[in-house]
Amino acid sequence: MLDMLASEYRRLYHIEVLCLEIDLSMPEFLAKLHSSLSGLEVGVVVYNAAFAPVGDFATMDPADLLRVVQVNVASPLALVRSLLPPMIRRKRGAIILMSSLAGNQGSPRLTTYAASKAFNTVLAEGLWHELRGRGIEVIVCCAGAVRTPGYAKTAGSDAPGALDADFVIERTLSALGRGPRVIPGFINQAANWVLSRIVPRRMAINIMAGSTKNLAADAARKKETGAS
Ligand SMILES: NC(=O)c1ccc[n+]([C@@H]2O[C@H](COP(=O)([O-])OP(=O)(O)OC[C@H]3O[C@@H](n4cnc5c(N)ncnc54)[C@H](OP(=O)(O)O)[C@@H]3O)[C@@H](O)[C@H]2O)c1
Repeated sequence: MLDMLASEYRRLYHIEVLCLEIDLSMPEFLAKLHSSLSGLEVGVVVYNAAFAPVGDFATMDPADLLRVVQVNVASPLALVRSLLPPMIRRKRGAIILMSSLAGNQGSPRLTTYAASKAFNTVLAEGLWHELRGRGIEVIVCCAGAVRTPGYAKTAGSDAPGALDADFVIERTLSALGRGPRVIPGFINQAANWVLSRIVPRRMAINIMAGSTKNLAADAARKKETGAS
């Protein structure tokens, strides 16, 4: 699959593409990455991967919870820290972290994932300020629902404001230089405004609980009934 995409990008954009198969849940991923990158300049870092198990915290596999922390927190942190110094020397580069509106408050049934996304949002905001004026742009994309394979697996139907991935990518790239944060889609911007500025924190968490309570269960039902 990766090789197919790489051929397509070479053909369409006349660029070099290097595919690496790396498990981001293993702290050793960085050594493998650096040995494969030797000599190559990295201009733009995008950390998009995430692990998002759904369920009640108390009954989830502790190994899965730690995997969330490794894939969504420790790995982006380590990646950015290791690729940033050459960018600072060149006075040129960009860092894009993929976060979520789920990370703006506690999100029941996505508790650890949401906490990991809060980390990414705050990390990017701090970096944005530290790197301002040094030639490096930082942006964090706080997406609402995005139609992706992972979303299709956990959600039975589109949440309000659900977007296509292409739209989210386009908005995020065009927001580079206008950081620290982008929220693609008007409905998501409005929901963020209400949840973070209008309603009390407890109510924001209750509203999130309402929208996450059927995650995974919905998808399973859709599979059983064959509904689209
Ligand atoms: N979809 C949404 O509604 C939504 C909403 C807000 C934010 N986001 C954010 O958007 C980003 C992309 O989400 P998505 O919906 O596209 O997720 P997805 O469909 O579940 O895909 C997750 C991606 O992460 C990769 N990944 C997971 N664990 C990995 C590991 N240990 N090593 C290497 N790669 C790993 C997966 O690779 P494999 O395919 O090889 O497993 C896959 O490419 C995430 O950061 C997510 O938090 C998504």
